[in-house]
Amino acid sequence: MDAQVQPIDQINQAALEIKKKLGSLSPQFGVILGSGLGGFAELIEDKIIIPYEEIPDFPISTVEGHCGRLVAGRIGERSLIALQGRFHYYEGYDMQEVTFPVRVLKSLGIKGLIVTNAAGGVNTAYAPGDLIIIEDHINLIGRNPLRGKNYPELGPRFPDLSEAYDPVWRKTASEAMAELGITPQQGIYAGLSGPSYETPAEIRYLRTIGADLVGMSTVPEVIVANHGGMRVLGLSCVTNMAAGVLKQKLNHREVIETTEKIEKTFVALLTLIIKKLDD
Ligand code: HPA
Repeated sequence: MDAQVQPIDQINQAALEIKKKLGSLSPQFGVILGSGLGGFAELIEDKIIIPYEEIPDFPISTVEGHCGRLVAGRIGERSLIALQGRFHYYEGYDMQEVTFPVRVLKSLGIKGLIVTNAAGGVNTAYAPGDLIIIEDHINLIGRNPLRGKNYPELGPRFPDLSEAYDPVWRKTASEAMAELGITPQQGIYAGLSGPSYETPAEIRYLRTIGADLVGMSTVPEVIVANHGGMRVLGLSCVTNMAAGVLKQKLNHREVIETTEKIEKTFVALLTLIIKKLDD
């Protein structure tokens, strides 16, 4: 990003361009769709689709299974913006770029963010295909998106993260799961930089420090959403057991295949949650 331009100007400019295309729609929620989970966007009614290329300063996603567009519209009575395709630190983006879309959602007046991801199961009670509500996270990326000059318009210098994942929204998500016959489970998400998967020793370490899930996204976006005073709900899809849990190697194909299998349930759950969330 151009160091001469204030990030706030870029954020507001991107939001302005989006706003022009939204017409009378004023979205309540933002939804970030993780690897292989983009199918949710198909369900959005009265869709307004904006490719990332058409939004000034929006990075472009490069990973297989991510498509790179914003889909705004409605789910029942609720209005929302879904981001199909996110930006990962491992792709080479800096933390400002990774979290830029969250800043833009905030600038659009959105007060609640739902983040979804594919994750490895560290907790051996999990199985591939499980959907887990994120209770909290452990930032092991080695970076914090708030490092550098703080803009008080965006949030405080030292934001509190003691309820980074909204407790009321976690309860609502649990109730939605139970309604759909899914056993509600909550877990701690460890965010690492990737892109290599972890070693079995690293997974044992993560288990020891209290992690149930491991992934390469979400943490920066959640930090920035909290900085901006947004409420956050996190949902992980366990796409594989983490390294060393089973006697098999990990690959990205397995991750995508599991998300394809679970997609219908995931979409039904996300839809129900969005209808039930208080705002
Ligand atoms: N490790 C890290 N990230 C992941 C995994 C994993 O096992 N599965 C899906 N994303």
